[in-house]
Amino acid sequence: MRDALGIVFGETSTHSFKVALADARRARRRDYVKVWHDVDGWVLCQIAGITRSDERFTEERVFEQHEGEPESGERVVAHVEVVGSRGQDGVLRVPTIPISPGEKVFRADPELIKETLGLVKGELYIGKLDGHDIEVRLDANSFVQRHCSILAMTGSGKSYTAGVIIEELLEQDVPLLIIDPHGEYSSLRHPSEEMGLEEFGVSPKGYGDKITVLTPASLSVNPEADGVLRLRGHSLGVQDIVRVLGESPTNTHVGILYEAISRLRAERDTYDLQDIIGEVAASESKAKWAVLALLEQIADSELFCGEATPIQSLLKRGRCTVISMVGVKPSVQPLVVSIVCTELLEARKLGLVPPGMVVVEEAHNFAPERGFAVAPSTDILRTIASEGRKFGLGLMVISQRPARVDKNVLSQCNTQIILRVTGRVDLQALAKGLEGMTSELVEDIKSLPMGTAIISSSSLERPIMVRICKRRTRHGGASVSIVGSKAKSPRRRRAKKPVEAVEDAPPGAHPPDAQPPRGGVLSKLFGTRR
Ligand SMILES: Nc1ncnc2c1ncn2[C@@H]1O[C@H](COP(=O)(O)OP(=O)(O)OP(=O)(O)O)[C@@H](O)[C@H]1O
Ligand SMILES: [Mg+2]
Repeated sequence: MRDALGIVFGETSTHSFKVALADARRARRRDYVKVWHDVDGWVLCQIAGITRSDERFTEERVFEQHEGEPESGERVVAHVEVVGSRGQDGVLRVPTIPISPGEKVFRADPELIKETLGLVKGELYIGKLDGHDIEVRLDANSFVQRHCSILAMTGSGKSYTAGVIIEELLEQDVPLLIIDPHGEYSSLRHPSEEMGLEEFGVSPKGYGDKITVLTPASLSVNPEADGVLRLRGHSLGVQDIVRVLGESPTNTHVGILYEAISRLRAERDTYDLQDIIGEVAASESKAKWAVLALLEQIADSELFCGEATPIQSLLKRGRCTVISMVGVKPSVQPLVVSIVCTELLEARKLGLVPPGMVVVEEAHNFAPERGFAVAPSTDILRTIASEGRKFGLGLMVISQRPARVDKNVLSQCNTQIILRVTGRVDLQALAKGLEGMTSELVEDIKSLPMGTAIISSSSLERPIMVRICKRRTRHGGASVSIVGSKAKSPRRRRAKKPVEAVEDAPPGAHPPDAQPPRGGVLSKLFGTRR
């Protein structure tokens, strides 16, 4: 039994069995192992748990006085779950006859793991299988067409992971549009200064030639931007305005708008938002004030001033447009998303823009779950989630509050990337939405180390744990230190001159020498019951 980790014993089934481990230090929970099967050949399995017991230290015996310890009475038992094996046809099979007791269990070799888990093909290099030097690659077409969600609590690495994927999509020239509430993604222009990229075989790279940052506000508010985003504001119809207003306006409000726009259309060929406001103001209805307040909100945002940005310029092959919401009122941001995404889907249906992907950060604000909030962009994001695949428009939704994101949107995301989540309600929401979710998996999600994610996708045979690749580009959402490392105790600080205790860098700024915490990577793999 030289290379074997242990031997199968006791009652076995087609899905699980127990192994007597020769050495407790050679195997860990979530390790992949292989065992020979008379019919199916080598079968990939995963250690779901390990127990240790020692007859010298049973409950009874620890209370007994006894002289001299027996040499060793330790038993180490691994509880193993069967993943399966691929036949000549490449289809994964779980054995129909249980594994034979007495079979030796060995560490699984990388080729067997890759082949069995479905990690062999795929253009998007996301990271490495936790505990192994095995690259995890996802199929780009299926990833984009069938949508993706990245969910975790704040500071767990969602935007970092999204950055890694965006870089990979840019490498494949996939057209991208990013809705960026915090101005974190303009840093995709700059190469990373982080350490440890070589571990993943990537090198620093900036995508300055591929990124265009647009601001719906003005360049003075957001000097990081390359230009302004302006929406078509002339000759808006009632439906256009209703869509922008989001919260379904009452019939009376729609009536006021209808009358105002009908009058304008009868008088002239084109009109703008100010003309509509003028007409609504002239209405005799008392309900006009509510409509005016909403219209003023839209007018204030400058969104409809000047020439509209051509929709074709937002989604282009090999390019990424970032709509940075810095300086844009939170109430206006969903309006922008609503209009841009609606026009984009229409343009895609007409073939005016190439197939691509829309990335929505802080998705709970743009597609909130019913009962938590209402946003004008929810409908169009739902539509893209349910119909986008047919038209080649993919969605990547990112949120720190899985429970607060519209279920219709989340349920359509075929690739789910989950980083650390501890909140009970959010874990429950994940448990409902993730295929193959077990109580062990929920426990794993609560304790995921920084930079490690659970990825579930139809192109993978089962959820896997992945150490996310390092970014080639600079991460724009690095945590801002609150207390400087030089900070001393309050008493001593008062005695001396004040030190720079608080760094007030803006959220998007990246301290040049900032190093992300290198979360200790557990060399563990995880398992789920099928
Ligand atoms: N895979 C990783 N490797 C190294 N550092 C990482 C990794 N993932 C995240 N970090 C670091 O962790 C910090 C937080 O990451 P990130 O900004 O992605 O969090 P987030 O989940 O998007 O948070 P929020 O919800 O607040 O936006 C950053 O400083 C980042 O550099
Ligand atoms: Mg983030």
